[in-house]
Amino acid sequence: EKDGYEYFMLKEIEEQPRAVADTLRGRFTVGGEITLDEVRMSDQDFRDVDKVFIVACGTSYHAGMVAKYAIEHWVRLPCEVELASEFRYRDPVLDRSTLVIVISQSGETMDTLMALRHAKNQKARILAITNTVGSTIPRESDAVLYTRAGIEVAVASTKAFLTQLVACYLVGLHLASVRGIKYADEVAAVLTELATVPDMIQKVLGEMEPVRLLARHMENADRALFIGRHVGFPIALEGALKLKELAYMHAEGFAAGELKHGPISLIDDGTPVVVVVPSPRGRSLLHDKVVSNIQEVKARGATVIAIAEEGDVVVPPHVDHTVFLPRVSTLLAPLLTAVPMQVFACELAAAKGHDIDQPRNLAKSVTVE
Ligand code: M6R
Repeated sequence: EKDGYEYFMLKEIEEQPRAVADTLRGRFTVGGEITLDEVRMSDQDFRDVDKVFIVACGTSYHAGMVAKYAIEHWVRLPCEVELASEFRYRDPVLDRSTLVIVISQSGETMDTLMALRHAKNQKARILAITNTVGSTIPRESDAVLYTRAGIEVAVASTKAFLTQLVACYLVGLHLASVRGIKYADEVAAVLTELATVPDMIQKVLGEMEPVRLLARHMENADRALFIGRHVGFPIALEGALKLKELAYMHAEGFAAGELKHGPISLIDDGTPVVVVVPSPRGRSLLHDKVVSNIQEVKARGATVIAIAEEGDVVVPPHVDHTVFLPRVSTLLAPLLTAVPMQVFACELAAAKGHDIDQPRNLAKSVTVE
């Protein structure tokens, strides 16, 4: 039921603090040990892993891209992320010490299932992150971590995405602690911060009116570009995907550093560019680089909307609009930066009078190729 909301998507966006909290609940001990739901793998199996592959489609693939940054940083294992539709038709190098993480909200996506079987044939271990208990993908996997988003009705994935991110962080922390790479107190510190994220998302949701207003002003724009670096890059891709599927608008996401290798020629007077700005703290190099990218697009006439951390005083003078989000550590930031992307696309599509929950040509579960 829509519970008074006009669309399921709106309801599902608003449910995100609860979905994230549920996905975290009871999943870890004070010592930083993570509890998976179904595990046909021993701790030793996890210790034997020497390489991680993540396969998924669409929004789930974007969650996998974020996971790569976290896993390589925390676990110090090589981690590749690939679209399931590509992975299944090539010869990836896998063996029994490869862990393949399969991410699928529905647990039924054909390409993802076939990628899983492709990996299994080469004896890789499979860990599924899925939202649907009893679906095919977790049934065929060696280990499963369920997201607890609750049923997602709108075709555009929102709460499932945030809970996939949480599940990926938990898997990364689990690998790091089982393999003795991170000390218990470091794992515990990330978990403690994660536990505060639902309240932060709630705060973000309460401050989305300016984003809605911006979206309504863009009703007649025919395209939009999204740029980001590091974990902001997959969120730029996700922002563009949401706009494509809901607003039927040409939208592209780029790694900000790639601009001058081609995409910058797309920019002319008034081209909307949404920029995911990293925290100015600690990783100031990354922040400086994104500020120069903002200056580059601005000099060519772009209308820039920045998604930045509260307290960032450097960015606002360079851009047309700034959306401020609470402070959170770099790797966890996608849990917040994704939210204005969802609200923006939903509002813009609504302004255009589109069917929000059931965009044209799309299905919730893609069980065909
Ligand atoms: O059920 P899955 O997570 O396997 O679905 C993957 C994609 O089809 C899905 O994320 C799609 O991209 C969404 N409609 C995006 O909002």
